[in-house]
Amino acid sequence: MKGDYGTFMQKEIFEQPESVFNTMRGRLDFETESLRLGGIQANVVAIRRAKRILFIACGTSHHSALAVRALFEEAWEKPVFVEIASDFIDRKPPIFRDDVCVFISQSGETADTLNALRYCKDHDALCIGVVNAVGSCIARETHCGVHLNAGPEISVASTKAFTSQVVALTMIALLVGQSLALFQDRSRAIIKDLHMLPDIIRKVLAMNEQILTIAKECSKQQSILLLGRGGQYAAVLEGALKIKELAYIHAEGIHAGDVKYGPMALVNQARCIIFLALRDSHFNRTKAALAQIADCGAKPVVLCSIGDRAELSPFASSVLELPIVDEALQSVTSVIALQLLAFHIGVLRDNAVDTPRNLAKSVTVE
Ligand code: UD1
Ligand code: M6R
Repeated sequence: MKGDYGTFMQKEIFEQPESVFNTMRGRLDFETESLRLGGIQANVVAIRRAKRILFIACGTSHHSALAVRALFEEAWEKPVFVEIASDFIDRKPPIFRDDVCVFISQSGETADTLNALRYCKDHDALCIGVVNAVGSCIARETHCGVHLNAGPEISVASTKAFTSQVVALTMIALLVGQSLALFQDRSRAIIKDLHMLPDIIRKVLAMNEQILTIAKECSKQQSILLLGRGGQYAAVLEGALKIKELAYIHAEGIHAGDVKYGPMALVNQARCIIFLALRDSHFNRTKAALAQIADCGAKPVVLCSIGDRAELSPFASSVLELPIVDEALQSVTSVIALQLLAFHIGVLRDNAVDTPRNLAKSVTVE
């Protein structure tokens, strides 16, 4: 049921304060800061002992893995890989019994992800699912896992699954990192912000009208570049995917550190650019990249953290200040802003946002 909303997509975007809360409900006790993921608890020691973690997924689910990769590297101090499932099964890379393979999927039915799971199982790796749909193939065939509990996602464009995946994966990283003394302060800070996350998301959703104003400008474009680095690299890939799906406009997410190796040639006064410059450990380098594209005449729309408007305005056509949250969770705030942007552009262009052309909700063929 769509309730008061015109589309499932809009409803699913706006229910994210509740869906992320449901992902944490009964698992994270904010008072005692204790965390228990019933679905993987028995395997936490095996995960900690593994040699590598590989995240394998498609589309939006692949982007959520990219969004949490740095946190796993920090919490676990071992190699972490993020794989696009279709490329993974093309290559059939070496997989070992001391690998942990994590399959992320909203539907639990994506054929490429499922094939990759069967391949990793055949190679005796520990296979973990992070899946929304209970009883789905991936949930059944993985050795263990964590359900997102985000509720049904109807719109073809994935929205609340992304934010719940980031939250579920963050909780797994926190569990894995419990054995690392150096990670404990950081873990506490992240738990504090997970507690605040529903309210933080409400603040982003309250920016809807500001985002609609930006969407009106973007809806006239033929191509949009989105730039970001660190956790914001995952966010720009996800934002570009949403814009392609909903607006049918060419959109490209580019690592802000990579722009000087070619994409800079596309940058000029007329080019529509969305630049994610949130306050994180890469902020100075992000600012340098922003200044470089401004030198080429670009005036991007800048998404930054509250308090940075004055510093970044000279480089921007407009600035959107997002609420402050731990770096590990920043992709949640920026992706929700980009979900709203893509949604509004799609509606302004009279597109069927719930059912974009040529796409299916679950891709059950290779
Ligand atoms: C489970 C119950 C929940 C109950 C709670 C009480 C289900 C679906 N969940 O939640 O209703 O309130 O116990 O303690 O009955 N799994 C996989 N692969 C996946 C996802 C999950 O194998 O991709 C497995 C898990 O390893 C676990 C089971 O499915 O054995 C349920 O997982 P999950 O719902 O995440 O567990 P709990 O949060 O403990
Ligand atoms: O159900 P899954 O998470 O496995 O689906 C993966 C992709 O098909 C999915 O994320 C797709 O890219 C969405 N339409 C993106 O909005």
